[in-house]
Amino acid sequence: HPPNHQMEESSALRRADCRAKGGAPGFKVAILGAAGGIGQPLAMLMKMNPLVSVLHLYDVVNAPGVTADLSHMDTGAVARGFLGQPQLESALTGMDLVIIPAGVPRKPGMTRDDLFNINAGIVRTLCEGVAKCCPNAIVNLISNPVNSTVPIAAEVFKKAGTYDPKRLLGVTTLDVVRANTFVAEVLGLDPREVNVPVVGGHAGVTILPLLSQVKPPCTFTPEETEYLTNRIQNGGTEVVEAKAGAGSATLSMAYAAVKFADACLRGLRGDAGIVECAFVASQVTELPFFATKVRLGRTGAEEVYQLGPLNEYERVGLAKAKKELAESIQKGISFIKK
Ligand code: NAD
Ligand code: LMR
Repeated sequence: HPPNHQMEESSALRRADCRAKGGAPGFKVAILGAAGGIGQPLAMLMKMNPLVSVLHLYDVVNAPGVTADLSHMDTGAVARGFLGQPQLESALTGMDLVIIPAGVPRKPGMTRDDLFNINAGIVRTLCEGVAKCCPNAIVNLISNPVNSTVPIAAEVFKKAGTYDPKRLLGVTTLDVVRANTFVAEVLGLDPREVNVPVVGGHAGVTILPLLSQVKPPCTFTPEETEYLTNRIQNGGTEVVEAKAGAGSATLSMAYAAVKFADACLRGLRGDAGIVECAFVASQVTELPFFATKVRLGRTGAEEVYQLGPLNEYERVGLAKAKKELAESIQKGISFIKK
């Protein structure tokens, strides 16, 4: 039998409403690019997140199929699908959090900046929708090149008069996830016990792991520092090459995106002490955007932390990172301002 969508929808809404009245948080989350390599596992993990009451899945292809599939999972969140530009506004209306993994991924031999020409326009269109339909939502931007797409989103929001720097976050969690994994391997620890701050941006030398600030405290030989820094900076390329033309990181990225989105939702709920690295508007350096640890709260990135003490190796890395970042940020800003 075909499902009775009207009945399903109204009982689902009643449930979501009930939970909201009972004081249990139920956030409304949209994923834009939900049928993609990242989008699908990300949608599945968000469907399993108890903080989510409504999950909107938007894509220009296959959104109905992905939604039908996920909607059979017996978890609390209600999944609804939206296909193509005419449904973008319905997908976004009322959302608390919008996660954006829409756009093309790299193939071997490409840099993230090579994706700019296609992804910049996609991010602009989607952010225009956010500004119009859910201007108060928190935005988690995954589409590459993040170092440019976050400035693009900021300019779109400024133009629309809705820009709040606290609510726009470039997702760099995968760099931290990789750093924790690789450092744990070297130290012989459980990766869940390791925390490596990764600052700067999300491409090549702009990815700057602060190995001098690893928790638990530890020391590395110069060779270990060099090996770990290179591996963390090239983690994305390692996956692109292994996938040999079939795309870039999707599963580890979906895991990282959910880790970050869940932190944003716990912040929105009012939990104390939620700290994650993210690429945000920043006064930590002379650059207008920079990734550092931020404290997530009811209004988004409520506090942007300073870099803390750096060693000589990290100071050299920081100078290199800032040089490339400055160009990528300017490229994003010019795309909207031109
Ligand atoms: P993919 O091609 O598998 O999926 C992208 C999805 O976006 C597709 O389903 C496509 O239909 C959809 N899409 C394209 N244009 C759209 C539009 N205008 N509106 C809505 N959806 C649209 O790619 P993927 O592997 O999921 O990667 C997506 C993006 O995420 C890439 O740009 C990739 O470089 C980036 N990425 C970022 C990180 C990070 O750490 N921030 C990590 C991995 C990948
Ligand atoms: C990653 O770090 O895996 C992503 O940015 C995708 C890529 O192109 O490397």
